[in-house]
Amino acid sequence: MPSTVTSPPLSSPAQTTAPAPKTTTCNPLPTPIISSLPHNLQVRAYHPTDAPSCAHHANNRKIWINMTDMYPYPYTIESAQSWMKHTLDTTLWIRDELSPENAPLIQPNYAIIRNGECIGSIGLKPRKDIKRRGCEVGFWIGEEFWGRGYMVVVLKAFVEWVWRTFPALVRLDAEVIGWNKQSGRVLEKAGFMLEGVSRRSVFKDGRVVDEEIWALFREGV
Ligand SMILES: CC(C)(COP(=O)(O)OP(=O)(O)OC[C@H]1O[C@@H](n2cnc3c(N)ncnc32)[C@H](O)[C@@H]1OP(=O)(O)O)[C@@H](O)C(=O)NCCC(=O)NCCS
Repeated sequence: MPSTVTSPPLSSPAQTTAPAPKTTTCNPLPTPIISSLPHNLQVRAYHPTDAPSCAHHANNRKIWINMTDMYPYPYTIESAQSWMKHTLDTTLWIRDELSPENAPLIQPNYAIIRNGECIGSIGLKPRKDIKRRGCEVGFWIGEEFWGRGYMVVVLKAFVEWVWRTFPALVRLDAEVIGWNKQSGRVLEKAGFMLEGVSRRSVFKDGRVVDEEIWALFREGV
C-alpha cells in the first residue's frame, strides 16, 4: 500500500511565507549564569554568534602554550564552532550526585562575555569514579584583557556558582603548566592553594615540564 503524504492546507504559513531562517541565527542569547560583575563581565552558555569573537581572542599562541593539546592553534572560526558544538554534547553535562535522578543535566562550559563579546572561556571537567566529588576547572581570556583583574573576578564568581549548583562537589582543582605563573596567581587570588607539583608530567611545545596542582575545597567539608 502506498504511504500517504498529507499536504499542508493552502493557508499553512509554510506555504505562504518565505522559509524560516536557520534557528542558529535567531535563537535568543542564553541567560547568563553569572551577571552583575564588575567591568561588564558575564558568564553564559555559548551562542552561535560568539564564534567570530571567540576565535579572534582564542587564536593566540600565548594562550595555546598554556592549554592542553586539545586546544587548537591556529584557532579558526571553525575551531570555535566545533568547540561550541562540543559544549552542547549532553553526554558531557553534569547531574549532581545529590540531585534527584530526573533533575536536569547542567552544562559545564561557558563563554566569558564583555560588552556582548566573547572574550574567553571557563568550564569544568568532572572527575570520574572515586574522584567524582571533584572537578577540574579550566579557563582562558583574550590577551588584550590580561592584567586587568578580569579572570580573578570571573573565577571567584564561577566558584560560587559551582558550589551552589553542584551540592555534592567538595573539590575544585586546576592543573597548571609550570611556566604559567599568571594562572597560578589567578588561582591563588581566587582562594586556591598550591597542593603540589607533578614533576616532568607535561610535554608541551617540545618541552618536558612540571605541572602545578592547585585546589580549592568547599568550606566546612
Ligand atoms: C591566566 C589568565 C587567564 C589570567 O588572566 P588575567 O585576566 O590577566 O588575570 P588577572 O588580571 O585577573 O590576574 C593576573 C595576575 O597574575 C599576575 N601575573 C601576570 N603575569 C605574571 C607572571 N609572569 N608571574 C606571576 N604573576 C603574574 C598579575 O600581576 C595578576 O596578579 P596581581 O593582581 O596580584 O597583580 C590569562 O593570562 C590567560 O588566559 N592565559 C592563557 C591561558 C591560561 O593560562 N589558562 C589557564 C590554564 S590552567
